Amino acid sequence: MHFRTKAIHIGNEPDGTGAVVPPIYLAATYVQPGADEWGTFDYSRSGNPTRKAFETTLASLESGYGTLAFSSGMAAIHCVTMLLKSGDHILAGRDLYGGSFRLFHKIIDRAGISVTLVPTEDLAAVRAAFRANTRLLWIESPGNPLLTITDIAACAAIAHQHGSLLAVDNTFATPALTRPLELGADISVHSVTKYIGGHSDVLGGALVARDEELYRRLYFIQNATGAVMAPLESYLSGRGLKTLELRVRAQCQNAEAIAAFLTTHPKVQSVFYPGLPTHPGHEIAKRQMSGGFGAIVSFELIAGFNAAKRVVESTRIFRLAVSLGAVESLIEQPASMSHASYDPEVRRANGISDGLIRLSVGLEHPDDLIEDLDRALATA
Ligand SMILES: Cc1ncc(COP(=O)(O)O)c(C=O)c1O
Repeated sequence: MHFRTKAIHIGNEPDGTGAVVPPIYLAATYVQPGADEWGTFDYSRSGNPTRKAFETTLASLESGYGTLAFSSGMAAIHCVTMLLKSGDHILAGRDLYGGSFRLFHKIIDRAGISVTLVPTEDLAAVRAAFRANTRLLWIESPGNPLLTITDIAACAAIAHQHGSLLAVDNTFATPALTRPLELGADISVHSVTKYIGGHSDVLGGALVARDEELYRRLYFIQNATGAVMAPLESYLSGRGLKTLELRVRAQCQNAEAIAAFLTTHPKVQSVFYPGLPTHPGHEIAKRQMSGGFGAIVSFELIAGFNAAKRVVESTRIFRLAVSLGAVESLIEQPASMSHASYDPEVRRANGISDGLIRLSVGLEHPDDLIEDLDRALATA
């Protein structure tokens, strides 16, 4: 079955009423057949039919054994880190979402888990950074906010040689473009808030596990800690999946047009977009992404912080907001917004300059988006 057909039908089979769209089950608890017999559902933290429908569809789209849906992307990421114990080590990509950076460096370090950042686009650096106690390799591809491309299949092989798991934050690519589990990863992670929800009206997260054993370990942690996705969010997330491929492909086309425009602009120093043949990860991206190169474009101005601030505050169609992946285009300055939780020195050392601007390209007409950027860049 093709991706688009699975997105519409798997997990969405009509129930006893014949309703084409399954209802939203709000019940917190479920009547049991007997005191020592359990029905399919017993309590909504442990399982809910609306959440299950979304989880079933996403597992099918990611080619995984099972999905667990969470109340946010960070809750999903935190759940993965709870597989580890004191003394373990995480190796994570340097081009990392700011919230993951904060979780790794300011929360889970308290549990005695150490983290090293490495440029995962450089496989020799990844190999060299493994330690005897490394239990998890954490990557994003494309990375955030510099859109670095990491070879997922190669990282899976390296991680497994060292007895480590590979988790891929697949938020930027979505299963419409990249399916990490098919490339050997163990866990694919999403901020559902982004492309899967797709309309800036859902906060959610998800994990897709490659096999049953890993799924059961993660399910145990989720049920024990409780950050599950609520029924309305589950319904909206499942609805988002139905149009995911169409939206993402159209957004990728818009992003390609904008990246091409930015490369010719006199006030722009560099453009980060894996679809550009000049991008260092372009060949790997061609191999592991299908149908487009994503809809996030970052660029650096020749001028610095203040010019970037003026530009992000001057657009009229691009809204000044963090987050990404929805139908409306957004613009932000990582140094003062999405990556503000980094120490400024660390942030600069990780390649995130003060003049960097990140775009989440939406579904508006590309001519309107380019005109809006052109007008705002005049202020730089
Ligand atoms: C790549 C990536 N991963 C994870 C997250 C965290 O997701 P959430 O905001 O849903 O907790 C984000 C949020 O921006 C993100 O961009």
